[in-house]
Amino acid sequence: YRNLRVALLGGGSVGAQVARLLLEQKEELANRVGAGLELVGILVRDVNAERTVDLPQELFTTDAEALILGADVVIELIGGLEPARSYILMAINSGADVVTANKALLAAHGPELFEAADHVGAQLNYEAAVAGAIPIVRPLRDSLAGDQVNRILGIVNGTTNFILDRMDVAGDTLEEALAVATELGYAEADPTADIGGYDAAQKAAILASLAFHTTVPLESVYREGITSVTPEQIESARKAGYVVKLLAICERLDDEAGRAGVSARVYPAMVPRSHPLAAVHGANNAVFVEAEAAGSLMFYGAGAGGVETASAVLGDLVSLARRHVAGGPGFAASSHADLPVFDIGSVTTRY
Ligand code: NDP
Ligand code: HSE
Repeated sequence: YRNLRVALLGGGSVGAQVARLLLEQKEELANRVGAGLELVGILVRDVNAERTVDLPQELFTTDAEALILGADVVIELIGGLEPARSYILMAINSGADVVTANKALLAAHGPELFEAADHVGAQLNYEAAVAGAIPIVRPLRDSLAGDQVNRILGIVNGTTNFILDRMDVAGDTLEEALAVATELGYAEADPTADIGGYDAAQKAAILASLAFHTTVPLESVYREGITSVTPEQIESARKAGYVVKLLAICERLDDEAGRAGVSARVYPAMVPRSHPLAAVHGANNAVFVEAEAAGSLMFYGAGAGGVETASAVLGDLVSLARRHVAGGPGFAASSHADLPVFDIGSVTTRY
């Protein structure tokens, strides 16, 4: 099978890590997919900008059209609504599959993009759009598709969790903690999206749409951010045995007339310190799913960060590349690494 040509749109916090891993793990990924994944270019605004990750200079380009039209798979990591939307549509209409981490775009234009992909039989994967490295999109879309999800309760924004945590345990101000979160690559290009609760609301819209098999428009998600949370509130919550967390709550419920519907809302909530969500520190995220048959499930891990998010992006890439090679879903026969299995006996003191 010929190599798949992969175009990367964006070489920032996430994009640079995706490029690095694609280059460093070239052989292993090719083995897993059954074909090479050839990084053909990285779209940026400024090809001469200083970069924190060392990547071959000749990969950088500002020519979006040439890059997209020459690719089998396009990974969109520039963020925002435009030109990301137009680039994804260009990719789909040219016959490419797409991977994106862009929750803002999906929450605003998801139906249009999914319809365009369905129309031409293209795949549009977006595991990294919700909760960074945590697998939650595919579990909701696939693994739980035969169950009835009743409620989702989640910490889905790493930046605000990082800030609230630093305000609680280190006594930082919101501004101090946000500066560190930005430096570490957790925050959005415009961090108002994080602290204003917009990013969490976009993720809540995506989660609720997936979980309840419907379309939950962003406008119908109730939203409050963390900008009005004061150190005094955090202190008095602590004294009372609570911790303040920005929660996204999505649930199936009936209205007064008994009509079935859904609700999605985001706001800073007092969580008892004994609750597992209270133990989610730093930029980690956690998503609780309460389902009719499965009961309660918890998904936990890094919710933001360039390399962590790159893991989810590459998972989406490998998944759709395998379908290219095999001509259908499932593992390619060639995706075996033939690693030896070591016998290290019973080592009871370590796990
Ligand atoms: P960055 O702001 O770090 O990087 C954006 C990249 O896109 C830069 O390389 C920039 O170019 C390029 N770019 C922006 N606008 C254009 C444009 N108009 N034309 C060409 N190139 C452009 O973003 P992140 O890597 O942090 O985020 C990327 C996406 O991933 C976003 O959708 C974000 O919401 C999502 N995401 C981010 C996470 C994180 O922890 N950072 C986690 C999960 C999802 P240049 O370098 O020249 O400025
Ligand atoms: N800014 C986002 C966050 C990135 O802090 O959660 C991950 O989506």
